[in-house]
Amino acid sequence: MPAVERADDPDELDSVEAAYLGRNGELRQLLAGIGKLSGEDRPKVGAAANPIREELEAAISKRRAKLESIALDVRLAREKTDVTLPGRTLPRGSLHPLIETGREIARIWGQFGFVVYESPEVETDELNFELLNIPPDHPARDLWDTMYVAGTDRHYLLRTHTSPGQMRVMRSTKPPIRALLPGRCFRYEAVDASHGFEFFQVEGLMVDEGTTLATLRGLLDEFARAMFGPTTATRFRPGYYPFTEPSVAFDIGCLICGGSGCAACKRTGWLTILGAGMVHPQVLRNGGIDPEMHQGFAFGMGTDRIAMLRHGISDLRVFFQDDLRFLESF
Ligand code: PHE
Repeated sequence: MPAVERADDPDELDSVEAAYLGRNGELRQLLAGIGKLSGEDRPKVGAAANPIREELEAAISKRRAKLESIALDVRLAREKTDVTLPGRTLPRGSLHPLIETGREIARIWGQFGFVVYESPEVETDELNFELLNIPPDHPARDLWDTMYVAGTDRHYLLRTHTSPGQMRVMRSTKPPIRALLPGRCFRYEAVDASHGFEFFQVEGLMVDEGTTLATLRGLLDEFARAMFGPTTATRFRPGYYPFTEPSVAFDIGCLICGGSGCAACKRTGWLTILGAGMVHPQVLRNGGIDPEMHQGFAFGMGTDRIAMLRHGISDLRVFFQDDLRFLESF
C-alpha cells in the first residue's frame, strides 16, 4: 500500500483514507457497484474486494499508530524536563519595618509578662480625651491636633494616641494588669521628615499593688538595653501629661554620637523615645480601679521613632511610601 506508507503526517493519512474508503472513495464506489452486477459475478467480485478493504483499513490504522508514536517521541524529546534543575524560588515578602519593630517591642515586654491587647482606631472623644483628664476646652488638647469623624458632631475621632486603650483594658480586666497596646494613631499634622498624620505607638499599662515610679524606671531601663544594646544610657526628665502624675519623658543616650552631641540629638546627647508616668488616680477611678488599693504606670512610645533609630532612617515618610526598593532592603 505505497500511498499509505508514504503518508507521513496524520492529515495526509486522513486524505488517503478519504480517497479510498471515504463516501466517494474508489473502493467504496466499487463495493457499491457490486449490487448491479449479475448474480454470478456478484460473489466473486465481493470476495475479491472485501479483503482489499480490510487490508487497507488495517494498513491505515497501523500507519496511524506509527505516526502517533513518532509524534509522541518527538514531543518527549523536545519537552524533556530536567528534574535535577533547582526549583524556581517564589518571591517572599518580608515584614514592614514598623510591624517588625512593633513585634520586637512586644517580644521584649512579653518577657516582662506584658500581654498584647488591641483597641480601636476610631475612638470617642470621651475615651481619647475626657476620661484621660482632658475636658473639651482643656489647653492640653493643643498637644493633640485631632481629626474628627465628619457628621458625628465631634463625638467620634481618629485616636490621637494609644492611651484610650488604657481605659478599655482597665474596664475589661482586673488588676494585676500588664498590658501592651500597639497600633496606628492619627494627628492633624503638616507632614515632614519627623511628623506624619499617621504613625504607630505602643502603649504600656501596668496596674498592681505597690507599683511605683521605680518599677517603671527599672522596666524601661531593661527595655532600652534589650532594644538598643546593653550599654545604652537612660534618663528621666520631668514631663507633663494630664493623665499621669508625675509625668516623665524617657531618653536614651544618642545612638549616633554616643552622647557627645550631633545633629540627630540636636546637640543634647539624648534622644527621647517615650512619654510616661504614674497613672493619675482619677484615671484609675474612671477605669473602675480603686487608687487606694492599686497603683499603676503607663507609657506611650513612638514605634516609628524606634524603627528609625534601629535602622538608621532619617525620614519617617519612607515608611508610608510603599517603595519596594526601601521595603526590600529589610
Ligand atoms: N499618650 C501620650 C502621647 O501620645 C504618651 C503617654 C502615654 C504619656 C502614657 C504618658 C503615659 O504623647
